Amino acid sequence: MGIRVKGIKKIKNRATALLTGVTILLSGCGSFAGPAVSDVTQGDSTIETKSDDALISVGFSQLGSESTWRSANTESVKASLSTGNGFFLIFDNARQKQEKQIKAVRSFISQRVDYIVICPVIQEGWEMVLSEARDAGIPVILLDRNISVNDDSLYTAFIGEDMYAEGASAGKWLESYLDEEEMSTETVNIVVLEGTTGSSAQAGRTRGFGAIAARHMNWNMLASANGEFTQAKGKETMERLLKEFDDIDVIVCQNDDMAFGALEALQEAGIKTGGKGDKILISFDGTKKALELVKEGVINVDVECNPNSGDLLAQIINDLEAGKTVDKTNYMDEKVFTKDNVDEYIEDRNY
Ligand code: AHR
Repeated sequence: MGIRVKGIKKIKNRATALLTGVTILLSGCGSFAGPAVSDVTQGDSTIETKSDDALISVGFSQLGSESTWRSANTESVKASLSTGNGFFLIFDNARQKQEKQIKAVRSFISQRVDYIVICPVIQEGWEMVLSEARDAGIPVILLDRNISVNDDSLYTAFIGEDMYAEGASAGKWLESYLDEEEMSTETVNIVVLEGTTGSSAQAGRTRGFGAIAARHMNWNMLASANGEFTQAKGKETMERLLKEFDDIDVIVCQNDDMAFGALEALQEAGIKTGGKGDKILISFDGTKKALELVKEGVINVDVECNPNSGDLLAQIINDLEAGKTVDKTNYMDEKVFTKDNVDEYIEDRNY
């Protein structure tokens, strides 16, 4: 990985790259007057323009806008990589399509940005485009979700969540809850509403929860279904599972938006969650709305997935600019919320 050093030549390249970038991303939207301090939005892309050659240019391929969590993550990156903080951010929303992410990365390469940041929608299929970025000498930072590649020199650093640990935390919580309720030997029927198939979030949480489930012969995994991390799909999937099974004990939703959708379906069917003798509802993310439902006793446990990675991203880019060595894997701090501790955290939630 070539660490880029600021210098006269580099600064000149930056200015050229930015103007080229503006031209490419805005093609088809009329004339561009030239650099000025402003935000320009065209379709899924936002470009901050500022006539400051010394800004660090970053192409950011966000995977979509499917959830409350995702919006918070996008906002965190935009706030931290602001022009005021010394960055020039080119934002692209891939709307859940890997091919759109690959296209955005190629566009960032052709604009010769200083860094490329990707939230990868799925784990597989990144080798070719990341080789192109490496050949161009542009460091790639993976944000939020991880990828599956044999050669980890294809990216400089990963900043995100430990999805396996999140899944295992959910499993461990269920283990101790069933113990407390003296249900540890009863058959417990579990359904899982999974996130985007093939994403590291879905795969990690599934494996983490599965590792704990494997310790318990009485945990019966009835079904796993793709709820795509959205509220609408969560509702639709829960409705289908309720038609298919009349003996569900535990519902695991791999994010809060799917839990909100599942709750709509459950409430319409007159089914309660969270209380003694009710179905057990487990969720992930730790959004404010979900924490309120934990407090109300509707969601039993919510495992945090921390979207506020913008500041760490900015710090790591600044460290690379300063020639420092950065850690390859950087996990966000995450908690587990239940009725016992949720009061401490609700007020300060920013998502
Ligand atoms: O990758 C993080 C996951 O993606 C979050 O759990 C979810 O809400 C988002 O859509």
